[in-house]
Amino acid sequence: MSAAIALLLKLLKKGAEADIYLTMWGNRRSVLKIRKKKEYRNEVLDARIRSTRTVREARMMSEVKSFGTSTPIVYFVDPKKFEIYMQFVKGPVVRDLPDRKIITLCEKIGAVVGTLHKNGVMHGDLTTSNFILAGKKLVILDFGLSQRTERTEDQAIDLRLFKEVLNSAHVGIVEKAWASFLKGYGRAAGTAARERVISQVRVIEGRGRYANVV
Ligand SMILES: Nc1ncnc2c1ncn2[C@@H]1O[C@H](COP(=O)(O)OP(=O)(O)O)[C@@H](O)[C@H]1O
Ligand SMILES: [Mg+2]
Repeated sequence: MSAAIALLLKLLKKGAEADIYLTMWGNRRSVLKIRKKKEYRNEVLDARIRSTRTVREARMMSEVKSFGTSTPIVYFVDPKKFEIYMQFVKGPVVRDLPDRKIITLCEKIGAVVGTLHKNGVMHGDLTTSNFILAGKKLVILDFGLSQRTERTEDQAIDLRLFKEVLNSAHVGIVEKAWASFLKGYGRAAGTAARERVISQVRVIEGRGRYANVV
């Protein structure tokens, strides 16, 4: 990146996988997400992974809009530079909100996830940092690990991960937040689908315990 361009960028977040800059796209405030090189990965493989995730993220962010899911608008993608320019969404991430608010919002999160699953998309990285509350709208981010799948097993992986996030980052409200999430999920995906996925989550958790014992 040249120094002149760098002057127009403000580093917003340094993530594990990507750096997030605040910049402009034309006259619109924009976020530039650049996937970083991982030194421990083979160089060719590393470039392939970053490129695939960049393309997948941009494509899925646009596709899920047709389900009514709110995501940042994609302005520009450069798979060779591992860059996405997207709409800047103003507002806090759910992770940083007060507990009471998180419990309520988990119902909306559940509905967003239920809608994705019903339409054959798993997110792959459901954390409370990947949702921004923009006014009354809940915007979902970070589709680099998303997949097209109708499998209950994949849907259960999404739910299990979210539950783990609640357990580690929001330990005081796990039960209420999880119940709230499931309520929203059932509303969007249907109760039969919800029960199917929950029972698969139990299977995963059962396996987990078994693995610990052995
Ligand atoms: N379009 C956006 N608008 C506003 N903030 C964003 C946007 N995209 C990302 N962020 C901020 O940057 C953080 C990391 O972005 P994310 O896409 O989740 O990357 P990572 O893969 O590193 O988690 C988010 O949790 C959010 O705080
Ligand atoms: Mg993220």
